[in-house]
Amino acid sequence: MTASGPAPHALRLGVNIDHVATIRNARGGDHPDPVRAAEIVAAVGGDGITAHLREDRRHIRDGDLSRIQSATGLPLNLEMAATEEMLAIALSHAPHAACIVPEKREERTTEGGLDAAGQHNRLAPIVSRLADAGIRVSLFIEAEERQLEAALRLGVPVVEFHTGEYAHAIGEERARELKRIADMAALAAKNGIEPHAGHGLTYENVQPIAAIPQLAELNIGHYLIGEAVFVGLESAVRRMRELMDEAR
Ligand code: PXP
Repeated sequence: MTASGPAPHALRLGVNIDHVATIRNARGGDHPDPVRAAEIVAAVGGDGITAHLREDRRHIRDGDLSRIQSATGLPLNLEMAATEEMLAIALSHAPHAACIVPEKREERTTEGGLDAAGQHNRLAPIVSRLADAGIRVSLFIEAEERQLEAALRLGVPVVEFHTGEYAHAIGEERARELKRIADMAALAAKNGIEPHAGHGLTYENVQPIAAIPQLAELNIGHYLIGEAVFVGLESAVRRMRELMDEAR
């Protein structure tokens, strides 16, 4: 503990509350409210709230963002596609962080990392306008050297490695995916970029990822909200936090 409150976690847990909004939107009303989820995450010591405002507004809606921001003192990490529409929304809300993700309308979830290497010219003005507004920019990329090099060229302070392939793999393939993420996290940190990770993380697969010493933040959503149906969000976040702490 410090005079100003508990010491920050060496590995932060950002909770993605999108799927509370997915359930709300299934009936079109106001319940369950993702803001209430954000308040619970804050109360149990989560380190941040992550929300993805998708082009089709399938879960988080525009009006949720400022309500989430004013509900808790936690930093908001806004996941967004690299479009002019999302840039304008990010600039008007000034979240703590913006994580640029690839987005296809027909996909069920974010299916892979951003091609930062192939889209330098499209990304550069968006990254610099977010950075000029004091927003901490992150790129959601595959754990590949060429993507990390592209992130370095774009001058972002943070990358988030896509853990989806790792999460779906089994046996030796999972070990290979883990090594790829660990190697790229080390390379990112060596080059002054703060590495984060997320996607598909569960109680079962989180610990090897949490044990990667350079990772500073995990963003976890779908599994936690699913577990919350059975045990409550408070218990689900606490359990994930315990597993992350045990792994360090
Ligand atoms: N990080 C990013 C950049 C994402 O796009 C997502 C999914 O929206 C997550 C983390 C969380 O993934 P999951 O919901 O599978 O835990």
